[in-house]
Amino acid sequence: MQGTTSSNLSAVVSIDLGDRRYDIRIGSGLLDDPAQFADLPKAATAMVVTNTTVGPLYAERLRVVLARQYQRVLVVELPDGEAHKTWETLNLIFDALLANGCDRKTVLFALGGGVVGDMTGFAAAAFMRGVPFVQVPTTLLAQVDSSVGGKTAINHPLGKNMIGAFYQPQRVLCDLDTLATLPARELSAGLAEVIKYGPIADMDFLAWIEANVDALLVREPQAMAHAVRRSCEIKALVVGQDERESGMRAILNFGHTFGHAIEAGMGYGQWLHGEAVGCGMVMAARLSAALGHVDAAFVARLTRLIERAGLPVVAPVLDDKDNVGRYLELMRVDKKAEAGQIKFVVIARPGEAEVESAPDEVVAEVIRASCLPA
Ligand code: NAD
Ligand code: GLY
Repeated sequence: MQGTTSSNLSAVVSIDLGDRRYDIRIGSGLLDDPAQFADLPKAATAMVVTNTTVGPLYAERLRVVLARQYQRVLVVELPDGEAHKTWETLNLIFDALLANGCDRKTVLFALGGGVVGDMTGFAAAAFMRGVPFVQVPTTLLAQVDSSVGGKTAINHPLGKNMIGAFYQPQRVLCDLDTLATLPARELSAGLAEVIKYGPIADMDFLAWIEANVDALLVREPQAMAHAVRRSCEIKALVVGQDERESGMRAILNFGHTFGHAIEAGMGYGQWLHGEAVGCGMVMAARLSAALGHVDAAFVARLTRLIERAGLPVVAPVLDDKDNVGRYLELMRVDKKAEAGQIKFVVIARPGEAEVESAPDEVVAEVIRASCLPA
């Protein structure tokens, strides 16, 4: 309903970064509620950055609400997909900002999933050396992870999210209603990042997800609200202690070292980021077991949940001739790698993660075992 002011704010999670502190507001109807935008930075111009899928669904509603407080509201639609998370697409945002005479007070609004959010955030960090931006995430993955914490980036053909900046938004507005139009495959991809928070930080939450995964798959509103809130609370806590990933923030990358290799090795967009992370968590759990930190029952428990969430648990073969070599090569360009040595987030004990390197032979065995159906 266009222009409605009735919203239901179910939770506000604060991310404590001193004078860059901001709120993650979670609820339904937020996209149309002027109160959610009223205290954002003042400017003549707001620019909504979205894509060709999300724009037709939600951009007009956001444009109408923003027009109450900005003289000019521009809307830029980017091509959709991970394969477009590139310099060329980023330049479309700068082209639009410059062609429309935008100034350093212009506020950017990222309306979409993690791809739009990461690119808009990076554009905001770089345009005129930094303009304010607001995240309006519309995928589950973006609401529970990518819109929170200020990591912004584009991909390079040689590595995922390799070019970017830490740059925090002014606010994150998670309107749970937007999840109604999300394709089922994308919902499952988002669940991967929800599940992630259990083994790394909160085993009670893992048990809650196990009990509620079916409700989440049918988008039961209360279950969705709880999953988004608890995920954001955990992420806010971690980022509040280690904004620039000098230490503990790396635990949020559980499953990502293997996952990024899958994404890059398959070609961006073949496997969704969340699918790659889901399968990557199975691999990282196996590695944790191979290093003696957790038992086989833990690996089986996590694998079962990931499978129930509709995610792949058998890793793809990336190279018919030298599959292990290809995985290792791709993982050596991971941002956590130091001097070519791969670092993995492993589960030190259920509910606790740490960053470790592992002998190549152990990793090779995990890759071999993970590429075969159990
Ligand atoms: P995405 O942005 O590609 O969105 C998934 C698909 O859903 C797209 O086709 C999109 O157009 C569509 N879509 C979005 N909202 C919709 C809606 N409400 N209804 C219908 N369709 C909708 O993918 P994603 O999973 O949201 O994000 C993945 C990206 O996020 C990756 O590039 C990943 O690297 C990044 N990421 C970043 C961080 C971070 O901390 N910055 C964390 C995790 C992931
Ligand atoms: N998604 C990992 C992080 O934000 O650090």
